[in-house]
Amino acid sequence: MSIEIFQMERMQSTWENIVDYDMSESGVRPLTLRELSEMGFDLESFLDVPLGYSQSNGTMELREAVAAHYPGATIDHVEITNGTSEANYLIALSQLQPGDDVAMELPNYMQMPGVARSLGASVKPFRLRQSSGWEPDWDEFEAAVTPKTKLLYLSNPNNPTGAVLSDDAMRRIVDRCEKTGTWLLSDEVYLGAEIDRPRTRTFWGMGERVIVTSGLSKAYGIPGVRIGWLVGPPSLAAACWTQHDYITIGPNKMSDRIARVAVQPANREQCYARTREILRHNLPIAREWVDSFGGFLSWREPQAGAIALLAYNADVPSVELAERVRERQSTLIVPGAHVGLEGYLRIWIGGREEFMREGLRRIGAEFAALR
Ligand SMILES: Cc1ncc(COP(=O)(O)O)c(C=O)c1O
Repeated sequence: MSIEIFQMERMQSTWENIVDYDMSESGVRPLTLRELSEMGFDLESFLDVPLGYSQSNGTMELREAVAAHYPGATIDHVEITNGTSEANYLIALSQLQPGDDVAMELPNYMQMPGVARSLGASVKPFRLRQSSGWEPDWDEFEAAVTPKTKLLYLSNPNNPTGAVLSDDAMRRIVDRCEKTGTWLLSDEVYLGAEIDRPRTRTFWGMGERVIVTSGLSKAYGIPGVRIGWLVGPPSLAAACWTQHDYITIGPNKMSDRIARVAVQPANREQCYARTREILRHNLPIAREWVDSFGGFLSWREPQAGAIALLAYNADVPSVELAERVRERQSTLIVPGAHVGLEGYLRIWIGGREEFMREGLRRIGAEFAALR
């Protein structure tokens, strides 16, 4: 099986540890093991736990705790994975056949197009429109989601717009998927990272064809433990487990144990509150910085997530502009082309204040040179 390069991830892996300022991230600055110990992870007693294999689809305790977040779900609806990305991958591997269509919103996290094409499926995009608050272009949506569409992939809250779909839009998407017999894969890894709005509603429970993926990487702020999950009908979860056995067997034992602590309701709320606090502190700094460029930058402020998606007013391809910022300012940002939207840049707003201010200053120096 050949697979195209995942442009954004490869760019990040190549440069994020080399540049002075990595402003390409999308989660808040991560928690430490000490902070997790304070939440109840017993490191001392874990030192004596034999490091054998963990249960490959996730321990019963962890699946039970995750299932409790999704009304009506049992442990048989849940598969624990190595990050949300593995959950998305397992769903594609278990469901897609050559010749299938996969619909997806753009801009987006661009894992699914590469995976779908590697499995012989065709990708049919539909755009989110900034002019309508990043809701789908419904004509494009209707054209993209047909009875041939096996899977629809969206992220809600969305990476990179930081937008949350309205209840009406969610209903319309679910209804269409029911009608066309399409799996609706809602990647909800940013759910809980809302800045100044109520908690994002999950798609879970809205229809028979809904699958949700999520994990600890973004709203929780714990990407390094590499724990994600999928929640779907038991037959689908079982099919994903079958794939999992062949790939990584399962998540690692320590991560499973840490995740059991993180997903406890009180701890989850504590993680989300920490994320919100960081973002509420940083968003006004980003706003002031954006405003300082007059009309050169335009955006719709994110409702959730540690990302600012900015349209820039210059006739330069986004990859070229991002490379200029990296080469001349040792600062990494994500070009819009890597998230399916030319003419934009994605910039991290989840770091410490001093770090973010200096990163923004460096990016701004290149904008000033362009104007
Ligand atoms: C929408 C979305 N899904 C999944 C991932 C990958 O998540 P994980 O680190 O849990 O594998 C990302 C990372 O940026 C993302 O933005």
